[in-house]
Amino acid sequence: MKTDMNVIHVLVLGLFVLLGNMLQSQAALVRYNFVIQETKYTRLCSSKNILTVNGQYPGPTISARRGDTVIVDVINKASQNITIHWHGVKLPRYPWSDGPEFITQCPIQPGTRFSQKVVLSDEEGTLWWHAHSDWSRATVHGLLVVSPKIGTSFPFPKPHAEVPVILGDWWKNDIQTVMEEFMTNGGDPAPSDALTINGQPGDFYNCSRPETTKVNVDSGKTYLLRMVNAAMNNIMFFAIADHQLTVVGTDGAYTKPLKANYVAISPGQTIDVLLVANQPRNRYYMAAKLYNSNPRSEFDDTTTTAIIEYNGKYTPSPSPIVPTLPAFNDRNASANFTSSLRSLASRVHPIDVPMTITRKFLYTLSINTLPCASNTTCLGPRHNRFAASINNITFDAPRTSILGAYYRGVNGVYGDDFPDNPPFIFNYTQDNLNISLETPTNGTEVKVLKYNDTVELVFQGTNVVSGVDHPMHLHGYSFYVVGSGFGNFDRQRDPLNYNLVDPPLQQTIAVPQNGWTAIRFRANNPGVWFMHCHFERHVSWGMEMVFIVRNGKGLDERILPPPSDMPKC
Ligand code: C2O
Ligand code: CU
Repeated sequence: MKTDMNVIHVLVLGLFVLLGNMLQSQAALVRYNFVIQETKYTRLCSSKNILTVNGQYPGPTISARRGDTVIVDVINKASQNITIHWHGVKLPRYPWSDGPEFITQCPIQPGTRFSQKVVLSDEEGTLWWHAHSDWSRATVHGLLVVSPKIGTSFPFPKPHAEVPVILGDWWKNDIQTVMEEFMTNGGDPAPSDALTINGQPGDFYNCSRPETTKVNVDSGKTYLLRMVNAAMNNIMFFAIADHQLTVVGTDGAYTKPLKANYVAISPGQTIDVLLVANQPRNRYYMAAKLYNSNPRSEFDDTTTTAIIEYNGKYTPSPSPIVPTLPAFNDRNASANFTSSLRSLASRVHPIDVPMTITRKFLYTLSINTLPCASNTTCLGPRHNRFAASINNITFDAPRTSILGAYYRGVNGVYGDDFPDNPPFIFNYTQDNLNISLETPTNGTEVKVLKYNDTVELVFQGTNVVSGVDHPMHLHGYSFYVVGSGFGNFDRQRDPLNYNLVDPPLQQTIAVPQNGWTAIRFRANNPGVWFMHCHFERHVSWGMEMVFIVRNGKGLDERILPPPSDMPKC
């Protein structure tokens, strides 16, 4: 009898271990419905209809674990076209779900739907999703949180709670109107009327105080802030009064813990931050404002806040304590923070930096001007209109999907002549550049890569028209940021200082104003992948291009077939 019980015991135990292993290795299937709709929202005492997902602004958070597959049924009940992009998700061999309008798909038209399969692979941490057509991402965005697999844990002590921190901006005017206005007049877009934290401007704005975002904390506990900069046109500075921040991840990959008094975060970038509630019980502001390196442009110089409130019985100071942020134009504060991130590079979270490089590219990033349409004067420099370019090509989006054309071998939609190097060599970052350099060419050129090419790409900011930072974002990949600096990239000298030991793994990187940034990646994800500046005005002006990564020889190195419900143009 006794032995029998033991046998049963062992059997039951074995079953549990087996079940546990299955749970751990088995990726789950997670489902969401995204209903795109027009919803009335009031901010700063003025109401308007905005585009939302499920009526929510910011939109719903998608929660999954590493390696899961998320199916999102996108149902367009609004009156305009839309596409949805999973920012930072690599979608191995499945570019069909990626989302950029006219790059990987035709838009989802009003009254139609598209079921998007979002396959997670090695991403772990905070990512986000947003609309990828026109300027609709201003209100159509939300977090995509990828937790560790069951049975594994964070590479830091488990936080008491997780807190979303979504930085954004708000226009009183309809966002589509804001876009059409500056695209028509050729000038800069109207600056936003407020910045926001989780959709709320906060105490420093008229008509906004009662709704200010509040986060309650227990003294002594640690909180994981899942931050994204969802703002349209600017890098932001962020800080919490009296509290030191510890950065532990960015763009869905872990970093070495970095202690910081402020964070600089690019549009598109995510940052995971630990906050220890170790200060006297009180109320403290977290605050964010824009970093703007362009002295000539008008911008929203306001400050958005949310409140960190300690739990317990105490008498708080009359108003919450305000943090100090770097000056709005402090380019060193931005570049210093960005260049101090390091990959965790541990045994559990190793890195794999390409050491031998098969393709070397130098891409210049420029603001340009183009003549205004005949008989009109534009609001850009010398009555021209603004444009922007990579290697002097202003990208013209086709009216059909490049991925569809590539997959089916349709000619005439794009060219494959994107240059490896700038067409003109000049002192990219000097003052008073010749006006003839301002005019770009137009084109729909892609760069074709072979499967497993190892790419080193140096982004070179230029001072054409005006030098500004450019947060460059690549779809379908993460890349290692191996070096950066101010001034012109020096092919002889600068590579000697590359960090090939623990460079951060990112998908969006701010190329400093009149500076350069070098990235490396291995082209092991076949598909059609968009690359662009994540400043929305620069996208509208044409600062984008496309990589096509060809299939490899192996069966598992080829693009998977498209789903049957791909939207039609
Ligand atoms: Cu977050 Cu192509 O964008
Ligand atoms: Cu840019």
